[in-house]
Amino acid sequence: MRLKIGKTLSAFAILAASASYAHAGDVEVLHWWTSGGEAAALTVLKKDLESQNVGWQDMPVAGGGGTQAMTVLRARVTAGNAPTAVQMLGFDITDWAKEGALANLNDIATAEGWDDVVPAALQKFSKNDGQWVAAPVNVHSTNWVWANKAVLDELGIAQPKTWDELVAAMEKVKAAGKTAVAHGGQAWQDATIFDAVAMSTGGPDFYKAAFVDLDPEVLGSDTMKEAFDRMSVIRSYVDDNFSGRDWNLASAMVINGDAAFQFMGDWAKGEFINAGKEPGKDFLCFRFPGTQDQVTFNSDQFALFKQGDAVSSEQGALAKAIMSPAFQSAFNVVKGSVPARVDVSDEAFDACGKQGMKDLAAASKSGNLYGSAAHGHANPASVKNAMYDVITAHFNGEYDSETAVSELVTAVEIAQ
Ligand code: BGC
Repeated sequence: MRLKIGKTLSAFAILAASASYAHAGDVEVLHWWTSGGEAAALTVLKKDLESQNVGWQDMPVAGGGGTQAMTVLRARVTAGNAPTAVQMLGFDITDWAKEGALANLNDIATAEGWDDVVPAALQKFSKNDGQWVAAPVNVHSTNWVWANKAVLDELGIAQPKTWDELVAAMEKVKAAGKTAVAHGGQAWQDATIFDAVAMSTGGPDFYKAAFVDLDPEVLGSDTMKEAFDRMSVIRSYVDDNFSGRDWNLASAMVINGDAAFQFMGDWAKGEFINAGKEPGKDFLCFRFPGTQDQVTFNSDQFALFKQGDAVSSEQGALAKAIMSPAFQSAFNVVKGSVPARVDVSDEAFDACGKQGMKDLAAASKSGNLYGSAAHGHANPASVKNAMYDVITAHFNGEYDSETAVSELVTAVEIAQ
C-alpha cells in the first residue's frame, strides 16, 4: 500500500516538476486548497490579484494537511523549477528558509509594518534569523468539534463539555442507528484528532512536553497511553467506510445529517458555509471537550521562492495583498480561519469566527496557545511524519495502546 502511494506520488512529482515556469506578470501558486470551501476562499485571493493585473497560475496538489503538496514542492525545487509562491505550514517554512530557498521580504514587511501587527507565535515561523520569509494569511486551530444541530436536538443531546459527556453523546447517537463521528481515515486526519485528544487527556503541560519538547518520558507515559485508549474509543464510533475518506466528505456527512460530529480544524467551517449552512442554526462549533481554554493552532503562510536577486513585482503584490487588513477579513470569513493580524475587526465574522478570534486572543494572553503537532507547528516534518505513522497504525488497530506508546518513543527518537 505504502509503495503504491509512493509510486503514484513520485509519478505526480515528476509531472509537476516538468511544469512550465510562470509567465512574467503571473504568480504561480502551489497550494492544497482543493475542497469546495477552500476553493471559495482561494477565489477571494485570485480576484484580489486580478484587480492588480497580476495573473494567477494555479498549482493545486490535493491532500489535506499538505503532505503531498510538500512532496511535489521538493521535486519542483530539485528540478530547478520552484513555484513563485507556496502555501506552507510552520516548521516547513523554517526548513526551506534554512536551505536558503526563500526570498527576503524585509523591505515589504518594514514598509507595511508587519512587525507590529503579526503575533509573535506566527512571527516565529514567518521569520528566520530576523528575516521575513513568509506572509501569514490566517490562523486555524485544530481543537474544534463540528456538530449537526438537528441531530443533537432530535436526540436530546446537549453540547458535551467533558470527555465523559462526549462519550455519552456518541453512544446516544450510535444507539439511535446513526454515525456518531464522521471521519476520514487518513494519517493527517487521525493526527488532527490526536492533537485535541492529547490536549484534553493530559492538559497543556503534557502537550508541550510531549509534542514540542519531545520528552521521551512523557511520550512514553501512562497519560499518553490513556490518550491512545481514547482514540480507540473514538474509533468505535466511526462508520465502516471511513478508510481513505477525504476530510471534506466527512464534513458533508455532518452537513447532511448523516453523522453527528466531526473533530476537525476550522477549515471544516468553510465547507458548512459553502453549503449555505449557518452556525447556531444548522450546525454548532465548540472546542473539543476538555480543551475549552486551549488553542492548538496552525497558520497558512505563503513563502515566496527566490526567482532572482530581488522579490519580483508579482511576488511583492501577492505578499502585500495577503497582508492587507481588508483581505484578511474577506478571506478568513470564507476560509473558516481567523486573521493573522491582531488589528482586524471581527465584525464581518459569524459566531464561530468571532469565537475563534476571542479564543485565540485569550489563549495567547494566558499562555495557552500551542502549535498543532498534526499541522507542522509543534515539531519538524520528520518528527511529525513519524508520529503520523504511529497514530494511524494504532487507529487502524495495528497496535494496541501500549505498543503505540513505545513505538511513539522509538519513532520520535529515530526521526530527530
Ligand atoms: C491547512 C488548511 C487546510 C487543511 C485541509 C491544513 O493544514 O492549514 O488551510 O484547509 O489543511 O486541507
